[in-house]
Amino acid sequence: MSSIRQDLAECYDLAPSTERAEEMREIYETMDRVVPPPDWAVFAPYVAAINKLKKERGAVILAHNYMTPEIYHGIADFVGDSLQLAIKATEVEADVIVQCGVHFMAETSKILNPAKTVLIPDMEAGCSLAESITAAGVAEMRAKYPGAPVVSYVNTTAEVKAASDICCTSSNALQIVDAIEGDTVIMTPDQYLAQNVARQSKKKIVFWPGSCIVHELYTAQDIRAYREQDPDLAIIAHPECTPDVVAEADFTGSTSGIVDWVHQHHPKRAMLVTECSMAANIADELPEVEFAKPCNMCPYMKKITLEKVLWSLHSMTTKVEVDDAVADKARLAVQRMIDLSRKLGI
Ligand code: 13P
Ligand code: SF4
Repeated sequence: MSSIRQDLAECYDLAPSTERAEEMREIYETMDRVVPPPDWAVFAPYVAAINKLKKERGAVILAHNYMTPEIYHGIADFVGDSLQLAIKATEVEADVIVQCGVHFMAETSKILNPAKTVLIPDMEAGCSLAESITAAGVAEMRAKYPGAPVVSYVNTTAEVKAASDICCTSSNALQIVDAIEGDTVIMTPDQYLAQNVARQSKKKIVFWPGSCIVHELYTAQDIRAYREQDPDLAIIAHPECTPDVVAEADFTGSTSGIVDWVHQHHPKRAMLVTECSMAANIADELPEVEFAKPCNMCPYMKKITLEKVLWSLHSMTTKVEVDDAVADKARLAVQRMIDLSRKLGI
C-alpha cells in the first residue's frame, strides 16, 4: 500500500489540508457529528480527487450502507442495501461502476452488466456467508431434498447463484420463499436468515449452516441487558442475527429497512444491532436520536477505503470478471428475484 500511496501522491494533491476541508464544508456537514475535524482534513483531499476523477472516467460509485461516512456521504452516487444496489446496477448508464462494498456485490453488478467495467477497490473484501458454500454444497442440498427449490441469499458467489433457482436479500427473503412453488424450500447459505424466515412462513425451510461473523456475535442476553438498563431504547436488528436476538428486537429489517425505521419512528435512543457504520451514516440526519454504542465491525466491508477507491479509479483496477456461462445462469437467479420483488412491490 505504501507504493500505492507514493504513486497517488505524485499525481494528486493528497496532503491533509484544513483549507480544503473548509472549502468542502457542505459535504462535511453531512458527517460532522461522527467525523472529527482532523480526520476530515485528511479525507477531504481524497474526496475531492475521487469526485473529479470519477467524472473524468465516466464512473458511478455504488456504495453499501456499511461503508464508512466519508465514503457513504463523500463520494457515493448511490447508497443502499443489497437489493437496492442490485436494482440500481440494472439502471446504471455509466460505463464504469466502482462497487464500494464486498465482492459478491461487485459480482452481482457485473452479472447484471456484462458489458460494463466493474471495479472493486479491494479484491479481499469478501464475506463469511459467501465463503461458506460452493456450487457443490447446493448440489448436496438438492440431492438431500429432491425437487425442493433453492433460494440463495445474494451473499454468495456467482457459481452458487448459477446453481440456484432464485436469489433473495434480507429485504425480500420471506416474500420470495412464500411466492415460489414447493412446500419445502432450500435456503442457502445463512442459517439464521433461514430460521428467521421459517418463523414467519408456513413452508418447511431447510438450510445450509453458514453465518455472518458480524451478526452472529450478538446474543439475546446482551440485548436483554441493554433493555433492562434502558426500557425506552429502540432495538433494531438485521435478520442475519440469531432468531433469539431477532425475538428481542422491536424491528428487524434489511440495512435500508433499519435506516427507514429510525427515520419514521425517531426514537430518543436506538441500538442498531448490525454493523457499526450504520448508525454513523445516519447520525447527522437524525441529531435528535442518540445511538447506543455497541456494534460490530465487518472486517471485509472495512477493507474499502478512500485511498483504495482513488487507486481503483486511477489504475482502473481491480476489474471483476465472471465466466460468461456462469454469469448467464446466475443472471437468471438474480433477475428472477428483481422481477418478483418488483411484482410484489418490495
Ligand atoms: P443488506 O442487504 O440488508 O444490506 O445486507 C447485506 C449484508 O451483507 C448485511 O450483513
Ligand atoms: Fe458478509 Fe456479514 Fe460482512 Fe455482511 S456483515 S458482508 S454478511 S460478513
